[in-house]
Amino acid sequence: SIVILDFGSQYTQLIARRIREQNVFSVVLPCTAKIDEIQAQNPLAIILSGGPCSVYDADAPPADPEVLNLGLPVLGICYGLQFITHHLGGKVSPAPRREYGHAEVELIDRANPLFSEIPANIHVWMSHGDEALELPPGFHLTAKTANAVAGIANPERRIWAVQFHPEVHHTKQGSALLRNFLFSIVGAKPDWTPGHFIQSTVTAIRKKVGSGHAICALSGGVDSSVAAVLVNQAIGGQLTCVFVNNGVLRRDEFQKVQRNMRDNLGLNLVAVDASERFLAKLAGVTDPETKRKIIGNEFIAVFDDEAHRIAKQTGGVDWLVQGTLYPDVIESSSVKGPSQTIKSHHNVGGLPETMKLKLIEPLRDLFKDEVRRIGRDLHMPDDILQRQPFPGPGLAVRILGEVTPERVALLQEADDIVVAEIKAAGLYQQIWQSFAVLLPVKSVGVMGDQRTYAYTCAIRAVHSEDGMTADWVPLPYEVLKTISSRIVNEVRGINRVVYDITSKPPGTIEWE
Ligand code: XMP
Repeated sequence: SIVILDFGSQYTQLIARRIREQNVFSVVLPCTAKIDEIQAQNPLAIILSGGPCSVYDADAPPADPEVLNLGLPVLGICYGLQFITHHLGGKVSPAPRREYGHAEVELIDRANPLFSEIPANIHVWMSHGDEALELPPGFHLTAKTANAVAGIANPERRIWAVQFHPEVHHTKQGSALLRNFLFSIVGAKPDWTPGHFIQSTVTAIRKKVGSGHAICALSGGVDSSVAAVLVNQAIGGQLTCVFVNNGVLRRDEFQKVQRNMRDNLGLNLVAVDASERFLAKLAGVTDPETKRKIIGNEFIAVFDDEAHRIAKQTGGVDWLVQGTLYPDVIESSSVKGPSQTIKSHHNVGGLPETMKLKLIEPLRDLFKDEVRRIGRDLHMPDDILQRQPFPGPGLAVRILGEVTPERVALLQEADDIVVAEIKAAGLYQQIWQSFAVLLPVKSVGVMGDQRTYAYTCAIRAVHSEDGMTADWVPLPYEVLKTISSRIVNEVRGINRVVYDITSKPPGTIEWE
């Protein structure tokens, strides 16, 4: 694999994704990883990421410069270039002019294999406050901007570095540069494919589980569904999936998931309709965090009951399947401090603790787009793979104030219309999330000759890469018009539709 050492750049995961897009496996390790941890990955090459620090900061991440002496090809990116410069005898100092954003770079070393087939003048993305002032012995300048060093190399030691970010899509020739590194310099083989991944994962799961029994909490979303189908392919009858109706699912979702997962994909599925139990607990509760906690706790209780029942039937459950993805894994081992909890998110994770189950996390090495590719190879339908994210606490965080069965039914209808119209306009897959929110605000309207006094519904549509930040989507007026008139005409109980034009930050995506 290609080992990427993370010095804390916001783009580190992107490097890994760009490499994997070339069908080469890559892993991200914290820059503090010990040399033997790095060696344990059987690395073909090392990439040093960017990072927010200065090499001479007292709190600069303590990475072992020995990584430059392993005899492996090294590519330094941004801070990576400064790290190499600093530790191999060059000089780094604060730049008189910070370079941030778009920049023009001249690739002056035309014989450099890293720049092969790339024009001499390219447009790149820069983000740095320090610069290399003196190159280390044995290194030469390969690229420059009007102000500073933009690339250095020591081909004998097989060390290359650039000051700009080839992984960011604003760097137009970035993928070509990474391809040159992988295939011309490192000699990597593009054999990290969905087929290869499925085959090796299935074999590994079979070996690991043996004759044991596994359970999996299905949410109907992409990750848990692909994880379940993959494990099902490995151990079939030894896997039981549990799908819980928490009373705040979308319209027909409980039936749809059963049809898809049991009838179409052949999973051994236990569907538990616990909606009354959830809705009873939610009665009278209006505080957002309390609502979230109730749903989370109730889910654990229901799942735990089922797990014990399944254990009795099967003679014991040993394994829990989870759809953990690579970004969560990197996040939890990252050098950055834990970010502040804004909302208590609860995925179907860490469950159920009392049973001391061992974990199977078949997607632990994958990014979301890779999970979709795997799902496609497993012949899973697009309506599962392309589904927009849906929060664990479901419609409860989109019904402001108290959640009642009547309000759930209203929002299910409105939500159904939003999804249908966004799909009809061909926008569903381009948008991260698009949904309706039910507000406990009643206003006066008129329908025919009748005065109405009914609820307000807000429409929310956002673009996002990962849910951490988001921009509101300027939906075409025609689409908004259809959504609005359909909701007001078809959903009795809603007489006004408004559009949410708040980005994140400062708004969050969900309203609660
Ligand atoms: P916020 O509202 O925090 O949402 O901007 C960011 C993303 O997370 C989803 N979300 C959740 N997902 N359990 C989940 O699995 C939760 O409790 C939860 N709350 C929010 C939200 O839909 C958005 O994609």
